[in-house]
Amino acid sequence: MSTPVSKSDPPKSDSVPPPRAQAPVKPGAKIIGTGHYTPERVVSNVELEKTVDTSDAWITERTGIKERRIAAKGELTSDMAAEAARRALASAGITADQLDMIIVGTISGDMPMPSCAAFVQQKIGAKHCPSFDLSAACAGFIYGLSIADKFVRTGAARYVLVIGVELLSRILNWEDRTTCVLFGDGAGAVVVGPTTEEEANAGRGILATHIFTDGALAPALLIPGGGSREPFSAEVLEKKRHLVHMAGQDVFKAAVRYLASASRAALASVGLDAKELDWVVAHQANIRILEAVSNRLEIPMSRFYVNIHKYGNTSSASIPIALDEALAEGKIQEGQTVLMCALGAGISWGSALIRW
Ligand code: UT7
Repeated sequence: MSTPVSKSDPPKSDSVPPPRAQAPVKPGAKIIGTGHYTPERVVSNVELEKTVDTSDAWITERTGIKERRIAAKGELTSDMAAEAARRALASAGITADQLDMIIVGTISGDMPMPSCAAFVQQKIGAKHCPSFDLSAACAGFIYGLSIADKFVRTGAARYVLVIGVELLSRILNWEDRTTCVLFGDGAGAVVVGPTTEEEANAGRGILATHIFTDGALAPALLIPGGGSREPFSAEVLEKKRHLVHMAGQDVFKAAVRYLASASRAALASVGLDAKELDWVVAHQANIRILEAVSNRLEIPMSRFYVNIHKYGNTSSASIPIALDEALAEGKIQEGQTVLMCALGAGISWGSALIRW
């Protein structure tokens, strides 16, 4: 039988603590380190003019791209990813064996099976943590960040490594000027970890992530051959169906519409106005897409971080590369609000909102 406790009795050591004046904010997730790697070899538009029916003027005017990086012979997707990961781990101040999960957003891994993430895990010396690839093309990094956020926020993981990496130069048709001039190789990585109570109370960390797919638009951007639908054959090779095919204008229109709507969803979910954003780090696919999104959201281009002229479209790697560069250049400061958005094959797209 329990003894009744009078109001003046001191609380027993195992009794439930009285409610705090203000409910504590649930711990959240934040990016605690970033890194990127791009191959040494620079291929300019002028160099491409020699092998493809194109011009520096067309590429610059229609896309904003001036040059891209192309991986060296023998360099692997997992090599680039592992290097970006090492740099992100160093910036986070943690070691690979502290990782609870590795997510690699890629559609150009070393081989169809096993995952690129498995090779990355081995290369960086992370032991036994679940490691997997995520296929959301150019939206792969935002998808990975969204998953990492959920795992860290729920306490199911402490440190999650999210990598966006593509070695697209090996899956492009170098005779197709409508695609080959657009893309480049590279890798970017972030480490997601828990916020401190102080940071959570100050509203810092990953504030929102939203991810979407519209499979009806899948035919607009795809590699039709080489999978189970059209297994490798002489015909697949001859017709180059194992390489990237894109209906550029369809993707362009979807990108403008959905990058703007996903960005609005992110802002609305936390009651923020676009005017309050400090930076937009969007997928670098085409400067005209960024300008159109800037118009729709009424956010000046001066707040968009742009590096497409140097790297072209590196698909899932573009946002983490841009983020790492923006931080290294001192552009993104503590306490600032950063919006990220990306769209790619699927069509898959998404956004993330972070208070740094
Ligand atoms: O990251 C995944 C998401 N991907 C994207 O977001 C890409 C979205 N799409 C785009 O960025 C643009 O649609 C492209 C850059 C791919 C194409 O730009 P566009 O202004 O939509 O060009 P277009 O497809 O309407 O082509 C215009 C003309 C065509 O010639 P004709 O038919 O008017 O004679 C093309 O053949 O430009 C020609 N063209 C080129 N000319 C020189 C297409 N590619 C090239 C080229 N060099 N590389």
